[in-house]
Amino acid sequence: MEALVIGGGGREHALAWKLAASKEVEQVHVAPGNPGTAAEPGVENVAIAADDLEGLVEFAAGRRIGLTVVGPEAPLVAGIADALALEGLACFGPRASAARLEGSKAFAKAFLDRYRIPTAGYATFDRIEPAVRHVRAQGAPIVVKADGLAGGKGVTVARTVDEAVHALESALREGAFGAAGERVVVEECLEGEEASFICIVDRDRVVPLASSRDYKTRDEDGAGPNTGGMGAHSPAPGLTAALHGKVMRDIVGPTVRGMAADGAPFTGFLYAGLMIGRDGIARVLEFNVRCGDPETQPIMLRLRSDLAGMCGAAAAGRLETGVADWDPRSALGVVLAAEGYPGAVRRGDPILGLDRDLPDTRVFHAGTAFGDDGRVVTAGGRVLCVCGLGDDIAAARRLAYARAELIDWPGRFSRADIGRRPKP
Ligand code: AMP
Ligand code: GLY
Repeated sequence: MEALVIGGGGREHALAWKLAASKEVEQVHVAPGNPGTAAEPGVENVAIAADDLEGLVEFAAGRRIGLTVVGPEAPLVAGIADALALEGLACFGPRASAARLEGSKAFAKAFLDRYRIPTAGYATFDRIEPAVRHVRAQGAPIVVKADGLAGGKGVTVARTVDEAVHALESALREGAFGAAGERVVVEECLEGEEASFICIVDRDRVVPLASSRDYKTRDEDGAGPNTGGMGAHSPAPGLTAALHGKVMRDIVGPTVRGMAADGAPFTGFLYAGLMIGRDGIARVLEFNVRCGDPETQPIMLRLRSDLAGMCGAAAAGRLETGVADWDPRSALGVVLAAEGYPGAVRRGDPILGLDRDLPDTRVFHAGTAFGDDGRVVTAGGRVLCVCGLGDDIAAARRLAYARAELIDWPGRFSRADIGRRPKP
């Protein structure tokens, strides 16, 4: 079978690497991929953008691709799974109707409410005056979210009422997020420890992936602006076996059954972003309808089961509920970012030290490109995710940082505290 991975970041590099390791898979194509995927055995890049739905479907149909795995959310929300299905092609990713769980936060909150799934209290607004009145009445801290897809920039965890009002103004009055911000969700601010809970889902059947934890802010100890994620590890220590059972029973189960009951059965990676409160209850912060980036990189480092087998079975409607096989060790990834991230970044700097290997480490590419002379250069905000695998998170952390130390370019930066001690 030939497989297609849509996307070109670190998450897609990790997925393509794992899919290529499957005996069932002869060739993995990545659209558009990056220099990291180009160098993987059994993987080749195709120059089709992740948002070029027509081009992707034409390619998949022409090659009779046996399994398409979609990395980012935008093509899913835009209906890539529906378009592939029209051609009779298997896609591991939700239809547009189910991708609304990520595509609209107002939809997700109403769904969570309807099925009594634990989450933060909320209200939805499309006009500024009542939204500001609500924020003033509630007080801070409070969270303001653009309803639609905003490339990870649509959420403000406001520490003051002024900050919240400013976020409302930029979404509802200034149109900072375009149509995605014409409606906002205002949420109660939850405290606790975050965890990412990602499952392989085939309607009512579920195989959970190992838990993970993402570090969202640019700077150490939760300081600085939110990013796509500056590092991650698996497992998430807060997700004990007992809590894992509760999350499956109280969150994942009701979600997949609820989506099916609503006529939008879910197939694909279902990602519940959780906040584990001091009361020991896990609440849903958000749903994503795809794998997390950078969580996928350490998770794939630990996965021993056949990823293509599981995704292929789910896409064909014959996944068996169960557990996957995991390396008992911990994995940790630290993101090496380019100067300016998460804002505009400098690009085109040659990356030094990519060939300097260490045992039990692996480098996944994200914002990289081939320069004119064929060297690998920086080409985005999150450039690399450097991962280590060790007996515990501290050991994985030492390995990942040791390998990261060997890599350099002008303006390179990373967080020093990934996995040091849970804080945002
Ligand atoms: P989202 O895009 O909805 O995941 O939000 C991005 C990040 O904002 C989350 O990973 C959390 O760190 C934070 N966040 C979102 N909602 C809340 C909330 N209700 N309370 C506290 N933090 C939140
Ligand atoms: N790392 C968070 C995300 O992928 O949404």
